[in-house]
Amino acid sequence: MHINSDVRGMWRYADLFSAADLDASRSITLGEGDTPVHEAPRTAANIGCHRILIKDESQNPSGSFKDRSGAYTVLKMREQGAKGIVLQSTGNAAASFAIYAARAGLPCHVVVPDDVLPMNVHQIIRSGAMLTQLSDWTQADATCAQIAKATGFHVVSAANTPHRMYAKQSLGFEIVEQCDGDMPDAIFCPTGGGIAVLALRQALGRLCGDRGMPRLYISQYAGCCPIVDAFNAGVDHVSPCPTADTPRGGMRTPFPRRGADVLQAISSGGAFSVSPAAAALQAGNCGKQDGINVGLECGTALASAAIALIVGDLPRTSTIMVVNTAGISKMDPRYL
Ligand SMILES: Cc1ncc(COP(=O)(O)O)c(C=O)c1O
Repeated sequence: MHINSDVRGMWRYADLFSAADLDASRSITLGEGDTPVHEAPRTAANIGCHRILIKDESQNPSGSFKDRSGAYTVLKMREQGAKGIVLQSTGNAAASFAIYAARAGLPCHVVVPDDVLPMNVHQIIRSGAMLTQLSDWTQADATCAQIAKATGFHVVSAANTPHRMYAKQSLGFEIVEQCDGDMPDAIFCPTGGGIAVLALRQALGRLCGDRGMPRLYISQYAGCCPIVDAFNAGVDHVSPCPTADTPRGGMRTPFPRRGADVLQAISSGGAFSVSPAAAALQAGNCGKQDGINVGLECGTALASAAIALIVGDLPRTSTIMVVNTAGISKMDPRYL
């Protein structure tokens, strides 16, 4: 693969995820990417498989994997001469984009639910972004559209720009480089809208080909799992979930617009939904037993991996990677 080994972090893969003319030296960076892969031997023994690897995206500057998309999308917006940006997010993307917008000197307005986690509010306010909190989350897109109309800002919510997914591919490229020919058998990705797992599929497909590709699995909360429901029903489209009962934080996406693509991406893997309590138990055990403080979203991935092993979907000899999309600083303390 073509990587620029003179460059640190996700920008070393810029030729792979971006237009060839991107000059990495002009990037808006705070050190995103280059996150560690940890062995979690006691968690593996606990869950009952050969190896668990944790790709620790909580080590990104704002504490979540959203920084890959944030850094690149803000750069593209600045290049395109945007007056400012507006996005809706359950919190982690809002905090990340606010930070990178501040770094780029670009005005930013974020729309978040009214129960957004305090750490995200702190990061948003500290970055000088404008903040709108909504009690009715179904109004998020409409609110962004109104703000965009009034201000002339560019909407960069997940469904509104391809840049977010392009940059997220760096997660997959990095995994391939770090595994150095010894790829895991399966990767479990905590999923809401599915941009992360789609980017992973795309990146791994490009570098590993279909035959060398790990099986991809998604995990969702039982209170909002439209993709898992569609997967289990064996249909090729995803119907909106009428209610969204999830802990505060990521993965509250009742209508994943790219749901059909996600179903294709996981066709050789699978999808599981778990309760917040099951996720909290696995996340807590991982912290106590292996010293890796994963977030609740990653707890859903660990709990789902445990189910896949129990039901025989994966053999006990498997090496499983889970993506820790955000750490405990981005977690509802009630689940600690
Ligand atoms: C911590 C965390 N994990 C997972 C997700 C789900 O990501 P995606 O919407 O790309 O599936 C999100 C997004 O809200 C998140 O913030």
